[in-house]
Amino acid sequence: MVVRKAVIPVAGLGTRFLPATKAQPKEMLPLVDKPVIQYIVEEAVAAGIKQIIFVTGRHKRAIEDHFDRNLELERNLEEKGKEELLKIVREIPDIADFIYIRQKEPLGLGHAILTAEPAVGNEPFAVLLGDDVMVSEPPAVGQLIEVFERFRCSVIGLQEVPEKDVEKYGIVGGKEVDEGVFKLDELVEKPSREEAPSNLAIAGRYVLTPGIFDALRKTPPGRGGEIQLTDALQLLNRREAIYGRILEVKRYDTGDKLGFLQATVDFALMREDLREPFLKFLKERVEKEIRDGGDG
Ligand code: UTP
Repeated sequence: MVVRKAVIPVAGLGTRFLPATKAQPKEMLPLVDKPVIQYIVEEAVAAGIKQIIFVTGRHKRAIEDHFDRNLELERNLEEKGKEELLKIVREIPDIADFIYIRQKEPLGLGHAILTAEPAVGNEPFAVLLGDDVMVSEPPAVGQLIEVFERFRCSVIGLQEVPEKDVEKYGIVGGKEVDEGVFKLDELVEKPSREEAPSNLAIAGRYVLTPGIFDALRKTPPGRGGEIQLTDALQLLNRREAIYGRILEVKRYDTGDKLGFLQATVDFALMREDLREPFLKFLKERVEKEIRDGGDG
């Protein structure tokens, strides 16, 4: 069975980015001139996904508007002969088929995924977190689909993290069965350093079998009173094998202020029209900082 659908949960409150996220979704913050969420949708589409299921909440309407047509804007650009911009704006609604489901309360990532069940049905599907931007070729979620096609089991994106940081992530334990591919036997959300089975962290991309829905229904609220996807995966692992793959990507947590700034700089440097003047600015800025006795 092919993976045709992706769930992108975007119903979280984005508290790490307040006050910017008081009245607008963090997923709509731009990296240069494109909202974070569009990069994520484009990654899914590049991996062969046809249908995007957004799990949204109140204050997230801007995401729906972004992937819809804006006829007034199109007319205006047409009248002014701004063909290039018109093309960019017109293409966005056709990137994929979009479905929106409301998570009525932000009860956790696991709960958000369960909310998507009516739109997913009984087939394997991908999950991409709405603020986790990954740059790679092949696309991050495509790297997981490749493993799914080999084993026909759920596959989780992994990233090695420093041991001191394990308590910030979902951490897995398992046996390496191929280079960078693990058969998992333990999944634990934000463990202490002593409890952590490894330093392999769950990294914002998943391919899941529909068995996850039943596991989610049976998962009681865990850390922070939220239904944790990691806890449901641990439950699912009693019935089905689960694999993990270390993602070969450059990853940016754009829901975090420092991660967002790093992504902004890197994405600007990847842009042909901005690279040279921006690099000049950065160089002069850093030189001044060193001259003035900053940390450099
Ligand atoms: P995060 O914890 O990173 O997002 O959740 P958050 O809650 O929006 O951010 P902070 O920590 O308050 O700054 C991971 C992903 O799960 C989604 C978020 O939108 C994000 O993409 N999520 C989280 C939901 O859709 N619903 C929830 O109840 C919780």
